[in-house]
Amino acid sequence: MTERKGIILAGGSGTRLYPITMGVSKQLLPVYDKPMIYYPLSVLMLADIREIAIITTPEDQAQFQRLLGDGSQWGLRFTWIVQPRPEGLAQAYLLAADFLDGASSLMVLGDNIFFGHGLPDLLRRADARGAGGTVFGYRVADPERYGVVDFDTDGAVRGIIEKPAIPPSNYAVTGLYALDGTAPERAAGIRPSARGELEITTLLELYLQDGALTVETMGRGYAWLDTGTHESLLDAGNFVRTLEARQGLQMGSPDEIAFIQGWITRGDLEARAQIFGKNAYGSYLNQLATD
Ligand code: TTP
Repeated sequence: MTERKGIILAGGSGTRLYPITMGVSKQLLPVYDKPMIYYPLSVLMLADIREIAIITTPEDQAQFQRLLGDGSQWGLRFTWIVQPRPEGLAQAYLLAADFLDGASSLMVLGDNIFFGHGLPDLLRRADARGAGGTVFGYRVADPERYGVVDFDTDGAVRGIIEKPAIPPSNYAVTGLYALDGTAPERAAGIRPSARGELEITTLLELYLQDGALTVETMGRGYAWLDTGTHESLLDAGNFVRTLEARQGLQMGSPDEIAFIQGWITRGDLEARAQIFGKNAYGSYLNQLATD
């Protein structure tokens, strides 16, 4: 079996963050001390994924490339893909079909932040499942804003309902999708919804109809934050600041993860630390390299 590949979906219009996002992509905004896209990128790296497609709007691609390069500084390989218009999350699988070339994938939304002990194990379990798809349900106070999991009385998944007025449960489907190699051909059969998007929930329904969808719940020990509104963006920044200040550890550092994974050498890490000079991030990487 070919290795699972990664996708970061970082297009969209970010209208809820206007006027900020009239001039810059949401996924380039700071979440405390790092650009937002570092956090979802870190999730893919923790899942042992090194081959990653980054999907952006045409206007924003150059800025993302300036920030992230070709990925070799972290032992990764980036493929750059443009989404001409924000026509839905499931469209990512059509745009990335050539890149995937039949491989299974782990797709993460560029504005989603995950944190929790055991995340790498959870991701490896999904990977080991092979055929079919796995998505992750997370308990939220306001499920009506999300795709919501409908469980039957035995706890089996009956459906996923997009932004329901009366949510069938408190479990939202997070922006992390582990789908097998059939995702592009399944996505090709989807018609745009009333809001003109190829909906991810429709794609997941197709897996569900074939009995090929697993919903894993992320327990209360995990944090899943999205950053699409001014309030949630500030909350996410405060969360990262609180954790980093308390633990003295970085959250969402691709440099640290690449080093721990053995994808870059101690010397590489030192060279990276140099770039950041005397700021806290640079000192942190230096410390890591000399420990
Ligand atoms: P959303 O937050 O649903 O949409 P948005 O980012 O355009 O923001 P707003 O609702 O404020 O206008 O998108 C979730 C994530 O998916 C986000 O990281 C952007 C990305 N996305 C795409 O890349 N392409 C798309 O077609 C859509 C709908 C979203």
